[in-house]
Amino acid sequence: MIERPFQLATLPTPLHPLERLSALVGQDIWIKRDDLTGYAMGGNKVRKAEFLLADARAQGADITLTAGAVQSNHARVIASVSRRFGMECRLYLSGQPTDPPVGNLLLNRLAGAQIQCVPTSVERSAAMERDAAKLREEGRRPYVIPIGGSNAVGSMGYAAFFEELAVQLKALPAKPTVLLFPTSSGGTYAGILAGKALTRSEVELLGIRVDLDPEPERVICEVASALAERLGIPDRFTPADAPMNADYVGEGYGQPTDAGQEAMRLLWQEEGVLLDPVYTGKAMSGLLSLARQGAFSGRRVIFLHTGGAPGVFR
Ligand SMILES: Cc1ncc(COP(=O)(O)O)c(C=O)c1O
Repeated sequence: MIERPFQLATLPTPLHPLERLSALVGQDIWIKRDDLTGYAMGGNKVRKAEFLLADARAQGADITLTAGAVQSNHARVIASVSRRFGMECRLYLSGQPTDPPVGNLLLNRLAGAQIQCVPTSVERSAAMERDAAKLREEGRRPYVIPIGGSNAVGSMGYAAFFEELAVQLKALPAKPTVLLFPTSSGGTYAGILAGKALTRSEVELLGIRVDLDPEPERVICEVASALAERLGIPDRFTPADAPMNADYVGEGYGQPTDAGQEAMRLLWQEEGVLLDPVYTGKAMSGLLSLARQGAFSGRRVIFLHTGGAPGVFR
């Protein structure tokens, strides 16, 4: 089993059936509750943060820098966990900040993060790299974390996730299984892909895209292959290994869809599970639509709930 450097997340997260939803849709649907990883309001970014902050500490960093959208869940977790390890945190956030701050932006302020807002996503990484260089010149030790924490270090958290899931699945009756989840910067997918190879699992994967960035499969395969190398397994990946569906994005990242809002209502009313409009609502709308088309017949579908609750309150 992959060793976690810190135990910030409360693991294993529950895996349980969604009985009312399954009956409504006529499909065996389960949920893996990574919304309940706990630390700093949980979600998928906590699993990545354990590995990223351990690496930052090992490199003697005194400040973390990362970037994302103004309501980034990743930024929220990095801001909080950095403080936990005695490091400053600087965030480069694209989009319009609200006044007063709400949702993740409010939590970033509570964490004492230094926040720089830039108009669009194009400027944020460049601004971050510029500042990192300046900090180095000043004798500081910055640790730069890419958007979403989606490199081979952060994605290790999702290779470990897959090992956890494989253990939970062993306790259930054998049945062909599909794991479905939202995908954006791709680190979650990359880790899952490497973890699937590591455990020699037959579980099928399906990412539901929530943005329109070009060539997500390329990044995912690069990161997953680098991760496989770190894990000492021979597997290398091609886009055919990372199936994804872009039919449920709507107008683009962060733009809610009617089907996503409907999925949020349904899960809240039937199962008491809160989804968010940016990631999990859209992914669940894809699951429901594909299930109604019979795409998963005879199989168990597991919905990976990646969190994002603070984004609902904005
Ligand atoms: C709640 C939530 N779900 C899913 C994702 C997508 O994960 P990844 O960026 O690793 O593809 C994110 C990333 O920002 C997220 O915050």
